[in-house]
Amino acid sequence: MCGIIAVTGKRASVEVLTSGLHRLEYRGYDSAGVVVHDRGGGFSRYRAAGGTKSLVTLDKEASAHVGEIYAGIGHTRWATHGAPTLFNAHPHLDCNERVAIVHNGIVENYRALKEELLAKGHVFSSETDTEVIAHLIEVELRGGATLTQAVASVASRMRGAMSFVVASVDEPGVLVGFKRMAPMVLGTDGESWFLASDIPAILDRASTFFHVDDEHVLTVGPDGATMADLSLTPVPLVEFHVSWTLESAERSGFDDFMSKEIFEQPAALRDTLAGRLDADRSLMLDVTTFDADELARINKVFIVACGTSYHAGMVAKYAIEHWTKLPVELDISSEFRYRDPVVDERTLVVAVSQSGETLDTLAALHEAKNLGAQTLAVCNVVGSSMARLADAVLYTRAGPEVGVAATKTHTAQIGALMMLALELARVRGYLYPQEVAELYGQLQEIPAHMDEALKLWDTLADLARKHSGISRFYFIGRHVGYPVALEGALKLKEISYLPAEGYPAGELKHGPIAMLDENAVVFVIATRTRLHEKLLANVEEVRARGSEVVLIGNPIDAGVARAGESFVGVPQVHPLFAPMVDVIPLQMFAYHTARGMGYDVDRPRNLAKTVTVE
Ligand code: M6R
Repeated sequence: MCGIIAVTGKRASVEVLTSGLHRLEYRGYDSAGVVVHDRGGGFSRYRAAGGTKSLVTLDKEASAHVGEIYAGIGHTRWATHGAPTLFNAHPHLDCNERVAIVHNGIVENYRALKEELLAKGHVFSSETDTEVIAHLIEVELRGGATLTQAVASVASRMRGAMSFVVASVDEPGVLVGFKRMAPMVLGTDGESWFLASDIPAILDRASTFFHVDDEHVLTVGPDGATMADLSLTPVPLVEFHVSWTLESAERSGFDDFMSKEIFEQPAALRDTLAGRLDADRSLMLDVTTFDADELARINKVFIVACGTSYHAGMVAKYAIEHWTKLPVELDISSEFRYRDPVVDERTLVVAVSQSGETLDTLAALHEAKNLGAQTLAVCNVVGSSMARLADAVLYTRAGPEVGVAATKTHTAQIGALMMLALELARVRGYLYPQEVAELYGQLQEIPAHMDEALKLWDTLADLARKHSGISRFYFIGRHVGYPVALEGALKLKEISYLPAEGYPAGELKHGPIAMLDENAVVFVIATRTRLHEKLLANVEEVRARGSEVVLIGNPIDAGVARAGESFVGVPQVHPLFAPMVDVIPLQMFAYHTARGMGYDVDRPRNLAKTVTVE
């Protein structure tokens, strides 16, 4: 949600900013802009509404004006305060154009701060909350503060989650960043320093990466980088290893990231599962401060997540309850912390998040820690805020996911959560080690079954064409088919903007069935579970209302499809592992439908990949 990039140093260039912004575009594409120090000793600012495409010309213009001491900041916006216009595009400046800022997040108390500044005669040129930061820093600098001192002082006056980077014409080459529950990473190639909202933005530039801590100020300049807390006491920088390759963040011959990432699912799951068991078959978490005995004492699991990650968490609920008999609560992160959740030190709170930065889930994790729970993050981005906050981490090793619609990280999350479920069953003694080993064996075969499901690419393209005129879709399933149905509907909504709803099939008759008629298409997740017969009875209810049925089922059940209905056959696997296979045709249907309608699947309207506002 908004992408920030900043660079200073010998090998800096405007192109570092603009190419970084292209890579950050999945975080927002309402407008973009850069500020660089120019030859006249001031700032040159270039902005464009409508995304980073128009930054190509900007690159040339800005490069022609760039000064000798090079430092620059860039931003791609997902609008919160103020329409996505040129005037609201970042970077924003203070009254005298001596301070420039790029910002991600929300200044919750910006109205009060803005009134205070207006009363003092400050002139605002945008409707954004961001601009107050520039003016507050202006005040501090006028009072004699350095840029670092000014940022530390201003940071403590602002409420809300945010990260930002500022530059001042009075300190050429110096950039100061601040982070509070919003992503920011520091990197260097030895000659230049880079600050960015995410690793892929600087993956081709930096060879060494450092964590930026919450409530800390980071100063980078010709002499290197230093971090300090808000009282300006220095804090050492901590390096972390990034294994992602540049190629993994490129489209590599695919039309878009979404199709590339759909096809990467078997590899992503294989990597996520690989080498996880130690000699006594216990699960090796990537980070942990609790041991197997503590895990065995857990008497309740609470899963918090948003969107697609929530659907992965829902699959895990079925598996954990089945294998461990532990009660599992599941909550949408934004609801969790505002509803007095019953959590104590024997609760394991599992935060599931691709980015590890989603503000709602991060805040839920904070709340869980405050309540004394044991916490575990299942996330994809190494060193992300959730990974650093939780007591333990289980990384999905899906590689960078750029498409806004999550695909490979979803199936990798389910794989990781299945391992967690099996580990809980093992430490609690509900499954014998031999049973755990057998289930692991089956889990490791899932990538091969996914490969089979991916062969349905053309079938789903045909199906999308067949249903191209349909304006209402329903997705139904039972047991773990229910979260698959929810995910199928979410994917279609996200990228094709068609009304699509997911329901538990048994719930249809309690209301939603009223919406069914011959103009609706109903996808049924009909792979084999113990509720198979009941599900087929629900399908009869749909047929009786005249809606067209598409069955996602195992080949042995192809006969259940009636004449004229579509049957999509996917490999039969262990029922609790089936969501990783069954969701693939639904991802492909959403993809082909959206492409058929001429939409950009990687950049769906109104959405940002990482949602760092509440
Ligand atoms: O990074 P996270 O997994 O925490 O993100 C959660 C949701 O914002 C995300 O899954 C969203 O629903 C995606 N657009 C799904 O395609």
